[in-house]
Amino acid sequence: MAPSRELTNARRRDAAKLTRGFRSVCVFLFAMSGVINVLALTGSLYMLQVYDRALTSGSVQTLMALSALAIGLYLFQGAFDVIRSQVLVRVGARLDEEIAPIAHRVAIDMPRFGFSSAEALERGRDVDTVRGFLGGQGPSALFDLPWIPLYLAFVYFLHPWLGALTFAGAFLLTLLTVLSEVLTRRLNGTTRQAAIVRNTIADSNARNAEVLKAMGFAGRAVDRFDGANREHLALQTQANDLIGTFGAISRVLRMILQSAILGLGAYLTIKGELSAGAIIAASVASARALAPVDLAIANWKSFVAARLAFGRLRETVVALSQAVEPMKLPTPAKYLKVDKITVAAPGSGQVLLSEVSLDLSAGTALGVIGPSGGGKTTLVRALTGIWPTLRGSVRLDGAELGQWPEESLGRSMGYLPQEVSLLDATVEENISRFDPRVDAADIVAAATAAGIHEMIVRLPNGYKTQLGPQGTSLSAGQRQRIGLARALYGKPFLVIMDEPNSNLDGEGEAALRTAIEAVKERGGIAVVVAHRPSALVAVDFVCVIQNGKLTAYGPRNEILSSATGQGARSTTQPEMPTAAPFPAHFNAKHERVSA
Ligand SMILES: Nc1ncnc2c1ncn2[C@@H]1O[C@H](COP(=O)(O)OP(=O)(O)O)[C@@H](O)[C@H]1O
Ligand SMILES: [Mg+2]
Repeated sequence: MAPSRELTNARRRDAAKLTRGFRSVCVFLFAMSGVINVLALTGSLYMLQVYDRALTSGSVQTLMALSALAIGLYLFQGAFDVIRSQVLVRVGARLDEEIAPIAHRVAIDMPRFGFSSAEALERGRDVDTVRGFLGGQGPSALFDLPWIPLYLAFVYFLHPWLGALTFAGAFLLTLLTVLSEVLTRRLNGTTRQAAIVRNTIADSNARNAEVLKAMGFAGRAVDRFDGANREHLALQTQANDLIGTFGAISRVLRMILQSAILGLGAYLTIKGELSAGAIIAASVASARALAPVDLAIANWKSFVAARLAFGRLRETVVALSQAVEPMKLPTPAKYLKVDKITVAAPGSGQVLLSEVSLDLSAGTALGVIGPSGGGKTTLVRALTGIWPTLRGSVRLDGAELGQWPEESLGRSMGYLPQEVSLLDATVEENISRFDPRVDAADIVAAATAAGIHEMIVRLPNGYKTQLGPQGTSLSAGQRQRIGLARALYGKPFLVIMDEPNSNLDGEGEAALRTAIEAVKERGGIAVVVAHRPSALVAVDFVCVIQNGKLTAYGPRNEILSSATGQGARSTTQPEMPTAAPFPAHFNAKHERVSA
């Protein structure tokens, strides 16, 4: 399907954002390099004048004047050089400032589109690579390259043969550069892929450290890492060898060329076609002409890396461009309508949920039950907009999720994921979702609703306690309840909880029940995925999701009684008894709890 015109424009706009203001700086740097290169002819001209004028005339005065002039010009050149490198460093910083937030944003979105998280993290490194290159020596060399003809012309003016020789040398060196580029391009791609594989393994080992330790397979995990590391190393060595070889060849070539120019100059002088001063001048000018080629070759690796990094950044930014920033809509308050949604896994495209329809109005709660792997979490991902729907729509008050600006939709959405992971920040920041206009009363209200206020104030720094990476300093139950508080913060219209009671004790379950009732009371909608019946006491409707389909949906008591036996052999759900998540005594227990 061809992208719409709107999307194409958005992509163009987002790609342009990366290089805003870059072109005019490039023109400036190019002009500046021109001035520097003209000034760099000073050395050659000085030699020429000293040998051919001062020495032949024997005038000390001329020598003094020439020297003073040369020193002045050298100082100018130095000053311009300093300015140019400072501008380049600032361009790097500016680019970083512009790109880093975009790249980070994109990295957050990437896993939803089927990229691995290691691949997503690469985007951050890409920004570093680009900035590092711009701060180094490479760019000056690149800006000097177009000015090589200036020196060639100068040498040619001294003697056409010398000009031809220098030109041939520059041509040969450039050819070498192109050749090394062609040979390393493919290799660079595979090396990078190998690095991602290696980093993914390292990342997964680090996250599973406790399991590796307890069951003693850390050694084998290291072996797995070692294999990937070796592969990466082998490719890296190959690439480095190639670049090193080309570097050596070009250096040798340059030395030969340097002597060849002197030799040719001497020959021409013997033949009486050239002055002694011109030999030196030609040698100096040709050396200067070839220096940028040399530098460019030396910095080729970082140049290629920076270009690939920038290309990747551009590509991902363009690929994940949103068509248009949606218009602001009034806060949803009426209903949630799920219309025949089909959901596929990002990346693989495998359909995990098909043709599910639900209808909930304000002040009601829905329980979602079904066997493991049936598609409950997939439904939750579609309801929260984490995964896009392949077909069908999820609407709040009539407007599809995509029509809401992300930030304002987020404020109307409370989400407690199945695996709660907290951000490396304080309890307060986690609950308030980094809200800058935070109100302490709202945070306490959310924590109280989640039944965790008392526990938080008992922490050493209360709400200001730092949680550390992924909140691992807390127990699973505590994390889940802070996650619940985060979902309830700001009284969002739609609160979605994916197995919220999996780690809760009796007290936590009571808090959960109260929280669901509170959401209903204030006119919100709660969706609760549950494995244990205790979480379903407060819901009005229940739906059963299995094998990626909605197999039953209706008022709680009807569905639950059929799920526990009596209605199980009804014509609509022939498979229910075996797949039912609840034990047979569920109904009895449930009645007791709600009584
Ligand atoms: N990111 C994913 N990519 C591909 N398949 C997935 C992904 N997440 C879940 N699945 C598959 O989707 C099916 C439903 O998973 P899920 O919705 O998590 O089940 P439930 O929450 O009901 O236990 C499972 O077969 C699972 O393997
Ligand atoms: Mg699940």
